[in-house]
Amino acid sequence: MKKSPPPKKSISGPDVRIRPLTSLEEFRDCVFIQRRVWDHPDLDLIPDHFFQIAFHTGAILLGAFVAGRLSGYVYSFPADFGRTRGHHSHHLAVLPEVQGLGLGKALKWAQRDEALKRRLELVTWTFDPLQARNANLNIHVLGVVGRTYLRNFYGETPTLGVEEGVPSDRFLVEWRIKSARVRARRQGPPAPVDPRRIPKALEREEGGLEPAIVPGRPNLRLQAPRILVEIPGRIADLPQGEGLVAAWQTAARKAFEAYFARGYRLDDFISGERSYYVLRLTAGTERAPFFGRPS
Ligand SMILES: CC(C)(COP(=O)(O)OP(=O)(O)OC[C@H]1O[C@@H](n2cnc3c(N)ncnc32)[C@H](O)[C@@H]1OP(=O)(O)O)[C@@H](O)C(=O)NCCC(=O)NCCS
Repeated sequence: MKKSPPPKKSISGPDVRIRPLTSLEEFRDCVFIQRRVWDHPDLDLIPDHFFQIAFHTGAILLGAFVAGRLSGYVYSFPADFGRTRGHHSHHLAVLPEVQGLGLGKALKWAQRDEALKRRLELVTWTFDPLQARNANLNIHVLGVVGRTYLRNFYGETPTLGVEEGVPSDRFLVEWRIKSARVRARRQGPPAPVDPRRIPKALEREEGGLEPAIVPGRPNLRLQAPRILVEIPGRIADLPQGEGLVAAWQTAARKAFEAYFARGYRLDDFISGERSYYVLRLTAGTERAPFFGRPS
């Protein structure tokens, strides 16, 4: 069994300050953070001059300062969702040496506070369905919901996929920031779901040894109100270049597309010895995929 690293202490209090970023110098620091966090080539970075114009045209740009040093930021821009006032959040990044200490969460809750002040209702963003840590933060901790699977959304840009040559699939998730669900999450995450009695639309082949686990065959015919889709706990630990990442993506994509089409939506995430998405069957208008102006 995989041994989890010891939990880090969270940081808060006078050492951490979250505030709007407003100057070109601070925007330059955001570019530095992108390089450190994503290790992208220059072509894939958002430059300081873009943040400058975004800031002056309605973006929300907040920084987390630890002992005075900019250590993470969140960036969203106004988006057209028809009658719903909202933003699309394109970056959330925390420097590797201070990850896991609560800054990412704090930045997102501060983004919500600012969005509420601006009378917004919705913040969307995309994330890679195979990234368990982000899934846990987004769904279990922040309370987003999701019903939209985007195949190879950013194209086969080598740095934006989990592995070179693997399509950059994404979920588009919806953070309904005024909803009872999100208000409840603001008080703390819900009790973890016990995966034992919920049917699995996808799980690893039995007997596989971590980290080289292999996906089983997706079961697309379940009828239960809640179903689970397993993903590897740390996709980056899977052996690269052996087709395993692609196999997980193909299997998970099949499961998500099939169940979203049948009215299931992302409802929770289980991050324990094994990692599972919890999908719940919904009724009514939430069935349709969501992107931009709902049709
Ligand atoms: C994703 C990221 C912004 C999170 O910021 P962070 O400061 O490390 O996260 P926090 O310490 O606030 O943790 C927030 C939640 O993330 C999850 N998380 C954080 N570290 C984790 C880990 N090692 N394993 C599993 N889940 C983890 C947990 O759900 C945690 O909430 P909890 O402490 O209530 O359980 C940061 O790790 C990062 O910059 N990653 C690379 C960039 C990226 O992927 N950005 C896109 C985000 S959608």
